[in-house]
Amino acid sequence: MSSLEILDLKTHFPTPDGIVRAVDTITLSIRARETFGLVGETGCGKTVLGLTIMRLLPPTATVEGKVMCAGRNLLEVNEAEMRKVRGEEIAMILQNPTTSLNPVMRVGAQIAEAIQLHQGLNKRDAKEKAIEMLDAVKIPSPSGRANEYPHEFSGGMKQRVMIAMGLACDPSLIIADEPTKGLDVTIKAQIIELIKKVTEKKAMLLITHDLGVARELCDRIALMYAGELVEYATLREIFEDPLHPYTRGFLGSLPDRGLVPIPGMTPSLIDLPEGCRFHPRCEYATDVCRQKHPEMIEVEGGHFVRCFHARS
Ligand SMILES: Nc1ncnc2c1ncn2[C@@H]1O[C@H](COP(=O)(O)OP(=O)(O)O)[C@@H](O)[C@H]1O
Ligand SMILES: [Mg+2]
Repeated sequence: MSSLEILDLKTHFPTPDGIVRAVDTITLSIRARETFGLVGETGCGKTVLGLTIMRLLPPTATVEGKVMCAGRNLLEVNEAEMRKVRGEEIAMILQNPTTSLNPVMRVGAQIAEAIQLHQGLNKRDAKEKAIEMLDAVKIPSPSGRANEYPHEFSGGMKQRVMIAMGLACDPSLIIADEPTKGLDVTIKAQIIELIKKVTEKKAMLLITHDLGVARELCDRIALMYAGELVEYATLREIFEDPLHPYTRGFLGSLPDRGLVPIPGMTPSLIDLPEGCRFHPRCEYATDVCRQKHPEMIEVEGGHFVRCFHARS
């Protein structure tokens, strides 16, 4: 059973310089209880995809396609129902905890407010539940720390608070956007362990530029490049039988595989290359890659790739 199904999703931003094609015809489905990794370099459209699902985009954005959840298209439900979805079904842990937390509100009160809004508990019970949530994400002395302000928390502790907020209303799907960005190695490992534990029974869309983090947490992984998916398979297939040159390049940039960066730069989403979007950076590119845009094809059950030379 799938927890979320995204069909031909497009999110574009018209700007004075042209149309930014941040999400361009993405199709994927997240199954119940699985952790699905969306991996790609900075600027490829990952956060915009998450915000599109949550309908948290600025009004200038144009969105097409479908986001199916529990039998309805989230792009078509009214705002009141969408607020309910955000509170009870899908939670997004935003990319930057420092700017996502309210600096002038005590941490416990912020979590309690979310709980009160969506679960109809009274203030006292909501506060108690907030402390329970802080305890669940392993914040020491949670009842004391609940009375502190965000600036009194370290980066790792703030990330724990974000996770507690995401979990507070017991959603069935969590979208975590770069949950380990900016954390040092030890804290990062702790946050990965925590996410593993708290999302065991939940579906998660893990957004990250760090394939190493995806390796620790994900059941399936999709590689995103310049607004579109280029490969999509189980964790094992991505690591043992990567087919897209971008995926191979990304794997080669992992510390245990030589730390070799992918040469070249990501293209502007306003002025995308003709043909395969990756061809200017691809050592295997031939004429067809420069002229035609490759379709996503299923090379084996559940392993999809967008490349003319995938099996050659
Ligand atoms: N409100 C907006 N208006 C115009 N362009 C935007 C807007 N929000 C994001 N973008 C552009 O969309 C692209 C994808 O951004 P983002 O999803 O944040 O990338 P990622 O999360 O993969 O690093 C970027 O080029 C970014 O500048
Ligand atoms: Mg992002």
